[in-house]
Amino acid sequence: MKCILVRRREAESIRKELISLNLLDNRYVPQAEPDGIYFPVKGKFKSFKLVEIELEKRTPRVFSLEESLKGKLAAEELELVVRSFDIIGDIAILEIPKKLEKKERLIAESLMNVHRNVKSVFKKLGPMEGVYRTRKLKFLAGERRTVTEYRENNCRFRLDVSKVYFTPRLSFERRRIAEQVKPGEHILALFAGVGPFPIVIAKVQPHVKIHAVELNPDAFKYMQENTRLNRMQEIITPLLGDVKEIVPAKFVNSADRILMPLPKGAEKFLGEAFLAAKKNCIVHFYQFASEQNPFEEAEKLVANEAMISGRKAEVTGKRVVRPFAPTVVQIVMDFRVK
Ligand SMILES: C[S@@+](CC[C@H](N)C(=O)[O-])C[C@H]1O[C@@H](n2cnc3c(N)ncnc32)[C@H](O)[C@@H]1O
Repeated sequence: MKCILVRRREAESIRKELISLNLLDNRYVPQAEPDGIYFPVKGKFKSFKLVEIELEKRTPRVFSLEESLKGKLAAEELELVVRSFDIIGDIAILEIPKKLEKKERLIAESLMNVHRNVKSVFKKLGPMEGVYRTRKLKFLAGERRTVTEYRENNCRFRLDVSKVYFTPRLSFERRRIAEQVKPGEHILALFAGVGPFPIVIAKVQPHVKIHAVELNPDAFKYMQENTRLNRMQEIITPLLGDVKEIVPAKFVNSADRILMPLPKGAEKFLGEAFLAAKKNCIVHFYQFASEQNPFEEAEKLVANEAMISGRKAEVTGKRVVRPFAPTVVQIVMDFRVK
């Protein structure tokens, strides 16, 4: 193909000029040689001499999983591919419909081609389940490992995707909460998992004290590690155990802010939240709810528990955090305890 030879120190500006004139032939990779760089061109450029050189062909970039599967799957199979998936660090977790099971490896390998940072691919074998909210996974492609490091909001999290709950889909919510926190607060991060809420809060507002409670020993171990990794040992104290036991034993009337990110079942712990709440404490209460009427149930539950606890609760915020399943959303209701 036709090329021009450009001196190295002019290469960048000439490359930009070629692009702006639509003269750079993007089907080939420019080649560095001791006497300069050969750029593939579509035609004459200024007074540069055109030379014939064999350059390496570019592999065309594919931008989506769907695109990369075209020609490998039949049209009706392509329709079934679930387009959304989670990437946690360098591990991807996919949903594969039953009808595509025979093609699951091919799909996993295609995903790794599209997302070059993905080193391992797993398939979901079911929903999040049990008290620890974990799910079974099947290894599909890449490196056979489940531990990864994930970055978010300038924080680092090490975790094992097969042993703990973690979702990158709450990163905005974590930031939203963190930005409300005021210096001097004592925060109870209940159901803390590997520590994403307390760690993002401590990053944004380090002048606080956080006690973070988690029942799953694996998640607790990673929360300890992540607290160290982000140098937050002075701010965050991870505690292993059940909220039902730890709150009455250690935190009666002590918190300025309480996080309850247990959307399936947090209502069973509202009594402990009211017990721990100081006057004017803000509680962030998460729930799965119907898309139709997302806040009705949460408002009733909170009002009822306030009455039982002999306190008052004033709702200060309501938000749909994310869609969760068809007709089901995850919500957060923020309320002030009086
Ligand atoms: C939905 S996950 C949320 C984890 C974390 N906050 C996050 O956003 O990644 C709920 C967590 O609560 C923990 N958990 C469930 N019941 C608990 C209890 N009674 N006491 C303390 N932790 C509990 C589970 O092990 C799980 O890690």
